[in-house]
Amino acid sequence: MRTRHLAVLPAAVAATLLLAACGGGDDAASGEASEGGVELVTAGSLTVCTNPPYEPFEYEEDGEVVGLDIDIVREVADDLGVELVTKVTPFEGIQSGADLNTDNCDVVASGITITEERQAKIDFSDPYFDADQGLLVPEGSDLDSVESLEGRTVGVQQATTGETWATENGLETVQFEDLGLQIQALKTGQIDAAVNDIAVLGPFVSEGFEIGANFSTGEQYGLGVKKGNTALLDAVNGTLERIREDGTYDDIYTRHIGTAPASSTAEPSPSDG
Ligand code: ARG
Repeated sequence: MRTRHLAVLPAAVAATLLLAACGGGDDAASGEASEGGVELVTAGSLTVCTNPPYEPFEYEEDGEVVGLDIDIVREVADDLGVELVTKVTPFEGIQSGADLNTDNCDVVASGITITEERQAKIDFSDPYFDADQGLLVPEGSDLDSVESLEGRTVGVQQATTGETWATENGLETVQFEDLGLQIQALKTGQIDAAVNDIAVLGPFVSEGFEIGANFSTGEQYGLGVKKGNTALLDAVNGTLERIREDGTYDDIYTRHIGTAPASSTAEPSPSDG
């Protein structure tokens, strides 16, 4: 529409309108930007909300957020031909759809487990990582099962599947806003054990903790976009498919996890030796 009107305007007026359309940083926030049919909250950038510290998926290093999730969304940004911008936000707003609905970001990438409840509020990509829950305890602790946790205080991360799991198993929980605070509380003895995704507990084993138990929950991580944003969802799934096929996913996985992915890791790619 705008283009058709421009055609009949004097050149100088048209030029002014064009400049206004291109230059306004504020315009971008209203969802005007478009990259190959994909609308982005800020022109020229893929804005991603994430909740570090959650090593190896998202954590800060030299003032920058890095990790497996970040490397994957960088591939999405590259395929769209835009810059990747990461925004650190509480996990609660990431998993509730609030960050997406308020245009705080285009994509949520935060080790998010695809659940039925969340699917009502977020559109998820194809799964890209398999996860289970784990129990982190002080070295030498005898806590190693649900039963052993009876009468103990278990730290969980707020609004996560670990919190749901602990509550469903009748455990007495204390909530923490992020993994860092949860681990801090375990260090100071405020909690007896911490439940979170098993893959993020490993880095603490060398710090006087051990894995007390692995609770097999069969979770899968997905990237999230605003409900109904099929153009962006298709782009994200397209990138996931590409990086599965060209080996980029295996490289990213191996770099951050330390071993090559098992062929069963979320959506297996056709084996090519
Ligand atoms: N996978 C769990 C969930 O979806 C925990 C994710 C927490 N992620 C994070 N970056 N803090 O609830």
